[in-house]
Amino acid sequence: RKIALTGIKPSGEPHLGNFVGAIRPALELARTADFDSRYFIADHHALTGTPAAGDIAAWTRSVAATWIAAGLDPERTVFYKQSDVPETFELTWILSCVTGKGLMNRAHAYKAARDRNVAAGEDPDAGINMGLYEYPVLMAADILIMDADLVPVGRDQLQHVEIAADVAGSFNHRYGEGHRLRVPEAVVPPETTGHTLPGLDGRKMSKSYDNYIPLFLPAAKLKKLVRRIPTDSTPVEAPKDPDSSAVFQILAQFAEPDVVADTRKRLEAGGVGWGDLKNQLADVLEVQLGPMRARYDELVAPGSELDAILARGGEIAREQAARTLRGVRRAVGVEV
Ligand code: TYM
Repeated sequence: RKIALTGIKPSGEPHLGNFVGAIRPALELARTADFDSRYFIADHHALTGTPAAGDIAAWTRSVAATWIAAGLDPERTVFYKQSDVPETFELTWILSCVTGKGLMNRAHAYKAARDRNVAAGEDPDAGINMGLYEYPVLMAADILIMDADLVPVGRDQLQHVEIAADVAGSFNHRYGEGHRLRVPEAVVPPETTGHTLPGLDGRKMSKSYDNYIPLFLPAAKLKKLVRRIPTDSTPVEAPKDPDSSAVFQILAQFAEPDVVADTRKRLEAGGVGWGDLKNQLADVLEVQLGPMRARYDELVAPGSELDAILARGGEIAREQAARTLRGVRRAVGVEV
């Protein structure tokens, strides 16, 4: 059976973009009888931002509770923390030895950090740690160690999955006689439905831009944040372009298709103000997310069943990882 795998970095609470780009499509895949699913929390990836220890622990809990509240069934999906699978870190080293430095130079997270430094007139590598540089190799190890075929991710992670496929290819080219790594493929939501979700400043919604709307805010706070999404100053009665509106783009991900089509028509006709649209969005989000929030609150509380679920998932994931790593170790010759 084909294996679907994805991860989320606990560098903040999960937000609407994570839900639309990764959680919802991944859960859809997991419900399909054709796939085994392995979803995890990429806690070591979050360390590139050198967060406080307490934050990592809290955010890991928050991401884990989110997946389960959103419908992940731990009986069907192997659900675990990256840090519970230390084999990943050994594989990362072996993979870095078949990964060209040039490939890492082109990875977009690193390139973006460098470009920002250059634009600010600073040393190009200022503040960039080796973790950020090697980030894609660790991600490749996450994917390859679990034999994943499909990786459901948002558009911003597509390049990373392509790098993982490249790295698998290099490994197979060099050591494929001894062990072949499965070459993964990204599953990205189609443009029309899975557009990168914009955040509170109109840029991509992202934990690193601090412009995100957390998934499980209390209703009143959610409404307050929705009001902060920027809009232009088109008067109420004037026709509006739905596609250039962050509010509409978010609505399009959460409302029923006929509601989206109707809202589009009303905006294009004029007479609907941005304030009205924001109220509609807050209501739609409440209808969609409200019921999951109660379950989330239960799970995120200390002493919930979350710890046992993750511990069990970690054991199963580790067995799989140990199998792959054994094959790899033999193929490269460090184990006979
Ligand atoms: P992360 O934690 O930044 O994001 C988790 C998932 O959410 C998607 N996403 C979005 N989708 C649509 N619109 C947005 N504004 C938006 N923001 C985030 C991301 O594309 C991602 O799918 N490197 C990964 C974590 C990771 C991983 C892996 C993923 C580590 N190892 C192995 C897959 C396989 C990351 O930082 O995602």
